[in-house]
Amino acid sequence: MLNKLPVARLLFCVLATSAVLGQVCAIVSLSALSQTSIMVWAFLALIIQLIVLGVFTSHVEKLISEPITRLTDAADHLGPDLRPRELPEYGSKEISQAILAFRNMQERLARCTAERVEVLAAISHDLQTPITRMRLRAESLESRQDSARLLQDLDTMHALVKEGVTYARTLHGTTEPPSRIDLRALLESIISDYEDAGHIVILDSRIAEPVMTLPNALRRILINLVDNALKFGSAVCICACRRSSGPVISVLDNGPGIRPDQLENVFKPFYRGPPRDQKSVAGSGLGLAIARQLAIAMNADLRLENRNEGGLEARLSLSHASVVHGLGGVSRVVDENGAEGLCRGRAAVATVRDCGHAAGAVGLSLSTRR
Ligand SMILES: Nc1ncnc2c1ncn2[C@@H]1O[C@H](COP(=O)(O)OP(=O)(O)OP(=O)(O)O)[C@@H](O)[C@H]1O
Ligand SMILES: [Mg+2]
Repeated sequence: MLNKLPVARLLFCVLATSAVLGQVCAIVSLSALSQTSIMVWAFLALIIQLIVLGVFTSHVEKLISEPITRLTDAADHLGPDLRPRELPEYGSKEISQAILAFRNMQERLARCTAERVEVLAAISHDLQTPITRMRLRAESLESRQDSARLLQDLDTMHALVKEGVTYARTLHGTTEPPSRIDLRALLESIISDYEDAGHIVILDSRIAEPVMTLPNALRRILINLVDNALKFGSAVCICACRRSSGPVISVLDNGPGIRPDQLENVFKPFYRGPPRDQKSVAGSGLGLAIARQLAIAMNADLRLENRNEGGLEARLSLSHASVVHGLGGVSRVVDENGAEGLCRGRAAVATVRDCGHAAGAVGLSLSTRR
């Protein structure tokens, strides 16, 4: 790759020398002219020099800052898969070396993660056989109580192993290609699975347009959030609406919520809330970590917020580009009384009060906040 900075330095020296020489020549040749003419010529020469210097300086500045900006972008956008992005060596020798070192670091990180996933996958695979053998032995135990306890422990072990592998895989990004989906249909199918299992989950979807997303990742995120909502609360609603920033899907519950200082910690792998919040509920503490990794992989933002009314809101904000066919910057807005209207730009904030009549039926007062 052509190293442009030394060329720029050379050009700068040539320009500066010629400018000085030019000035000397001008002064000598103009000495025959009157005092005023000399002043005018000197002034003009100075202006031209300043312009040339300005153009040249901005060019040099661009040459220096461009590769650094690219390097910063590459570091900022290092995805969860840690795969090296296209980053050509560019700029001065020092900057080229920094880019090369960064690329090597990306490759080492990606290799390291891949190895970790392989180890986890191998352990999980090899654990399946002894777990199945132990299950068979536990079932044949004479004491029914011991058998039930052992089977419960084995189920927990099995779930932990499975979740561990899923988490490791999500760390490596997702290979799922984006596709255009009917969001409402996806949410309805999730809810019907819960209904089959005897749970009530309310749907309030206000997005009619198709959405471009990773359907399996989205399904997995929502399932993890709804599982939590059902685990810690008794009434759950999935609300989907459009905001100026893009589609937003919220999972609302009426549980105890999360202590404000723990709202980010719960996204850490294997982190579970303080025992008093757990109500001895089962879990490995990986659900939210997986959901966050998948959200990053699909360029979405996942946050938790305690609701004023009590309970938790898990809010997944999809990127603006995910709406395939929008209303041209116009959003549907629902006012406090449930009346709908259209609104533009920043004012396009959807407020959902009493998320449908069904929510009221199970005593869940729901509202999404900014
Ligand atoms: N809706 C919620 N209401 C109250 N607390 C919650 C809620 N969702 C998550 N939490 C807290 O965050 C912790 C981490 O949640 P996460 O989903 O990662 O793990 P888990 O539900 O304990 O186990 P897993 O999902 O792996 O089965 C939970 O243990 C709980 O303390
Ligand atoms: Mg969970």
